[in-house]
Amino acid sequence: MGNNSATFGLNGENYEYPVMSGSEGPDVIDIRKLYGQTGAFTYDPGFTSTASCESELTFIDGGEGILLHRGYSIEQLAEQSSFMEVAHLLLRGELPTADEYSDFTNTITRHTMLHDQLRGFYQGFRRDAHPMAIMCGVVGALSAFYHDSTDINDPAQRMIASHRLIAKMPTIAAMAYKYSIGQPSMYPDNELSYTGNFLRMTFGVPAEEYVVNPVIEKAMDRIFILHADHEQNASTSTVRLAGSSGANPFACIAAGIACLWGPAHGGANEAALNMLHEIGHPDRIPEYIARAKDKDDPFRLMGFGHRVYKNYDPRASVMQETVKEVFAALNVNDPVFDVALQLEEMALNDPYFIDKKLFPNVDFYSGIILSAIGFPTSMFTALFALARTVGWVAQWNEMISDPGQRIGRPRQLYTGPKQRDYVPVGDR
Ligand code: CMC
Repeated sequence: MGNNSATFGLNGENYEYPVMSGSEGPDVIDIRKLYGQTGAFTYDPGFTSTASCESELTFIDGGEGILLHRGYSIEQLAEQSSFMEVAHLLLRGELPTADEYSDFTNTITRHTMLHDQLRGFYQGFRRDAHPMAIMCGVVGALSAFYHDSTDINDPAQRMIASHRLIAKMPTIAAMAYKYSIGQPSMYPDNELSYTGNFLRMTFGVPAEEYVVNPVIEKAMDRIFILHADHEQNASTSTVRLAGSSGANPFACIAAGIACLWGPAHGGANEAALNMLHEIGHPDRIPEYIARAKDKDDPFRLMGFGHRVYKNYDPRASVMQETVKEVFAALNVNDPVFDVALQLEEMALNDPYFIDKKLFPNVDFYSGIILSAIGFPTSMFTALFALARTVGWVAQWNEMISDPGQRIGRPRQLYTGPKQRDYVPVGDR
């Protein structure tokens, strides 16, 4: 066996497979020919050991707690960059020059309005509809309105669809919120930043001028940066799988939104804050830690643990700092933050969490900030979807441009009945 190949034995035969190395991270064994050569599949439910694609976008070292977007650390991006810069970086490959930045933000800004007929869609939803239900429906419906950007084989149309999705997501999310509280929706204001505009569309009303608080604008922009992309997570893999069949980008992003909604993924920020409120007081933390450790209780500490991070999620550290900034700017002191800090400390000193390498993830503190800013919990996952749209469209573009791309089609280990004869109903 050479340095760059792996030998595998099955039924007395040896097979050799090439080993591929990336620029960072573990090597991967290229088993594409395995089934053709051996007649066997691999079995990896949950894809814990399977790389589904090559990607240049994001690198995570879960053991060290490192997250890089095209080589730049999340800490530096969160501290020094802006969400629009990160969007450019992910979508176009590099941080923009001053001119590129101005062109890019101008393009995004000019796509923020929704087709007016789409506004009518909102009236069809119940007033108490979850914003994610509205997002799934309205984003999927974009494909019925923007026919001029659904040809996935045309790179120019792909880029227009990407710009439209990034630009319209704040408008769609803010309108979902306005609908739920019975206020008129706000048109975008192109004088404002991407994030300032979103805050105005969410919290402003047509009867009054809305003044964007720069500290909140910065904090919100940072939250968007922290959620922009996270390599081949469940929703991104969903977008890639949907896109691998040639489906249009709006339909693919709607599929990603549906996947993100679940409490094990993007829904965890909502679940984490609900949990902290339920705990309510530091005295009750031991009871909840005991429940999280109890094998017979399905309860888990929400905002804790991660498939990839076996160390502190670097996004959680930035979130924790941002809580303090937002509290100072708004002069609030939510006792739920103390519950969170003490819960984190107690869990990190508990052998169960130490042994299983369970640390706070991005969702542990984000709900506290979003709640302080004024968002209801039901909007949290919609905000995650808004920000992750950047990663989804960048990953989707990367996949479509990859000449080796094929339709995604996993195999299975069949455990059902063997072939049998149909029995007429009277004989069963
Ligand atoms: N509380 C208590 N125990 C936990 C937790 C938790 N939050 N997370 C994992 N465990 C235990 C789990 O019971 C299992 O124990 P055992 O080996 O004895 O059966 C072990 O740790 C490994 O867990 P797993 O479910 O096999 O790990 P996974 O990689 O399949 O799941 C996860 C990762 C994030 C779904 C899981 O940690 C979890 O459910 N966390 C709570 C939900 C959450 O915060 N999700 C947000 C993830 S970050 C943002 C995003 O990706 O959207």
